[in-house]
Amino acid sequence: MDNNIENNQMDSNIDKSKKDILILAIETSCDETAAAVVKNGREVLSNVISSQIDLHTLYGGVVPEIASRKHIEKINQVITQALDMAKASLEDIDAIGVTYGPGLVGALLVGVSAAKALAYASNKPLVGVHHIEGHISANYIENKELEPPFICMVVSGGHTHLVIVKDYGKYEVIGRTRDDAAGEAFDKVARAIGLGYPGGPKIDKLSKEGNPKAIEFPRAAVEGAPFDFSFSGLKSAVLNHINMCEMKNIEIVPADIAASFQSAVVDSLTGRAFNACKQYSCNKLAIAGGVASNSAIREAFSKMSVDRNIEFYYPSPVFCTDNAAMIGVAAYYEYINGTRHGLDLNAIPNLKLGERI
Ligand code: KG4
Ligand code: ZN
Repeated sequence: MDNNIENNQMDSNIDKSKKDILILAIETSCDETAAAVVKNGREVLSNVISSQIDLHTLYGGVVPEIASRKHIEKINQVITQALDMAKASLEDIDAIGVTYGPGLVGALLVGVSAAKALAYASNKPLVGVHHIEGHISANYIENKELEPPFICMVVSGGHTHLVIVKDYGKYEVIGRTRDDAAGEAFDKVARAIGLGYPGGPKIDKLSKEGNPKAIEFPRAAVEGAPFDFSFSGLKSAVLNHINMCEMKNIEIVPADIAASFQSAVVDSLTGRAFNACKQYSCNKLAIAGGVASNSAIREAFSKMSVDRNIEFYYPSPVFCTDNAAMIGVAAYYEYINGTRHGLDLNAIPNLKLGERI
């Protein structure tokens, strides 16, 4: 597959006389149809998100076919709104950024097709962005002083990655989940205790009423891979606990299960993140992805960072869950580094971070 990518450090297409660089960004990798306009990589002029959560809640999770159809219905509206709110027209835009992977292929294709059509019609450069690069880049929006290198813990519904951000667009993944993603574990446990979808925010809320020490759930380690994660054992332990209670006629306390489960996730994430900071002598740590909006996770990372003299960065919740502003930020840095994609850009559902296609 040739997507005609170029990555030239010196890019002659950038108009150096023009002061501001505006990126129109599009994100449709899962169940949010989103578009944003970002100025100079750090300033969000608009951030429009049309969420499909209510629709998927009916089925207890994201239904890919429904997601694609909804994206098609919403995409033009969302893009128009993003431009209007930014008081910008397509002529003002310097490049079109779009998530081209990883994600649901049908969902990604809607955003990629819209971005290609806009790029073609307006004769603007097209910049494909990795979804995780977007999540990491969300940290640049409100932390204007943050510059690489730093370590980032990416925890979302589909991904759990511990990443060294060496430079803009340069990543080394030092740990990843061997089974479920952190958000997936939240969603499955929430379903088991009858909270419904999406589980993360509901477990977060219910945990505040529970005892995190009520049940001792496992904190799994992966042998020989100190920065890798495993959450399937934890999820099974929760299900076993519920079965055991039912069999022995012991009262099930959802708030205690939620708080104890959340505490196990917090320990797994903080342990690896701070060990990585130590091993790689890095004193800057960021978190990203939908699960990074979890209040217990934010609290634990904040406290442990203070104790260890580490600068801790995290995006506001609206920039943690899927949005196009983060894609605009990532696209800006890719754009100024010379990344360009051709109109043969395709959706890559299993795109690896750092892989250039
Ligand atoms: O980043 P995101 O919007 O989509 C993916 O790229 O996967 O993450 C969605 C995930 C869901 O699993 C959701 O349950 C989880 O983020 N999430 C949370 C919280 N808010 C969203 N998990 C724990 N606590 C939260 N407050
Ligand atoms: Zn995401």
